[in-house]
Amino acid sequence: MNCATGECLPPTIANIDQLEDLLSRPTLAVIETMGRLEGDLIILGVGGKIGPSLARMARRASDAAGTPRRVIGVSRFSTPGLQQQLQSHGLETIGCDLLDREQLASLPEVPNVLYLAAMKFGTTGQEASTWARNAYLPGLICEKFRRSRIVAYSTGNVYPLSSIDRDGSVETDLPDPVGEYAMSCLGRERIFTYFSQTWKIPTVLIRLNYATEMRYGVLVDVAQKVMAGEPVDLTMGYLNAVWQGDSNAMTLQALEHAASPPLVVNVAGPQTLSVRRVAEELGRLLHKPVRFAGCEAPDALLSNAGLAYRLFGHPRVDEQQLIRWIADWQRRGGTTLGKPTHFEVRNGQY
Ligand SMILES: NC(=O)c1ccc[n+]([C@@H]2O[C@H](COP(=O)([O-])OP(=O)(O)OC[C@H]3O[C@@H](n4cnc5c(N)ncnc54)[C@H](OP(=O)(O)O)[C@@H]3O)[C@@H](O)[C@H]2O)c1
Repeated sequence: MNCATGECLPPTIANIDQLEDLLSRPTLAVIETMGRLEGDLIILGVGGKIGPSLARMARRASDAAGTPRRVIGVSRFSTPGLQQQLQSHGLETIGCDLLDREQLASLPEVPNVLYLAAMKFGTTGQEASTWARNAYLPGLICEKFRRSRIVAYSTGNVYPLSSIDRDGSVETDLPDPVGEYAMSCLGRERIFTYFSQTWKIPTVLIRLNYATEMRYGVLVDVAQKVMAGEPVDLTMGYLNAVWQGDSNAMTLQALEHAASPPLVVNVAGPQTLSVRRVAEELGRLLHKPVRFAGCEAPDALLSNAGLAYRLFGHPRVDEQQLIRWIADWQRRGGTTLGKPTHFEVRNGQY
């Protein structure tokens, strides 16, 4: 066990059960937050990559704090078996298309809301659906939950590409989204902000820049290219990656920081990672030669998460640990979600 961070981390992640246990393991700070927080929690859009482990962390932290609380996951549940899996971990589930006003109206009113529903991939060609999901739906959610506090995910994509000489975009930088997906995400922020100001809804907007675990994420994308002997595109030459267990913890802690107008906070990994160096390290760990395509542009999509670390503490898992875990997972043929991040896209078309 590596206890350097004060948190014992296993040298390898053996299987999905262990992975999901680690992703949903609450920190002391999260347990304390869930102990102080009053009332039930609803997670809208629980059915994707982040929701299941986030919901389970909320359940575990509430139980550890001895706070009776309903944790309710809402999605259309298009992934078979997920509803039963969440229920087996003590979560309530409600199948609901949030864009359907009648279904939305039937959801229970609870004091704490986490908002995850979004559309990214397939945006090009489905621009109208993207705007409905990312910018119109937040208005419906604010109407329904106007007496709640809301923590909503946004994305680092609302920033322009930033020079690699800077330490990533900060929250006070002017947004300048590239492409319709990113524009619709800024729309999401603007709508949440409008209703937060108008109805005094305490809100946090989390600009997440690449949550990562063994089955998906920017580092997995690079590892898969290295494994397959395919060239690694260097044009988007730098990136941030944060262990999803850490972004989950920060998201739950954010509930106590909800404010009107909203708190806007970047959640990202601490290091500006060079794609070239990451690929070379993965090649070494996987005993594979690495091929590259293109060369590094002078700017990249990078966020500075200094504010998040001051509010919530530093991530428990660093990027080098993540790279070692992912290499080991890939070497053993561990499953992935088959959902590449397309981090290399520079024109905003997903
Ligand atoms: N993962 C990252 O690294 C990352 C980075 C930046 C920002 N974010 C943001 O973080 C949030 C969560 O990320 P994620 O990766 O978990 O996203 P995701 O995989 O797309 O999950 C969102 C889930 O929301 C559900 N949903 C979508 N439309 C819905 C509707 N009309 N009614 C009910 N449920 C609906 C879908 O599940 P069902 O099909 O079951 O309904 C979908 O799987 C998103 O807002 C995303 O933009 C994530």
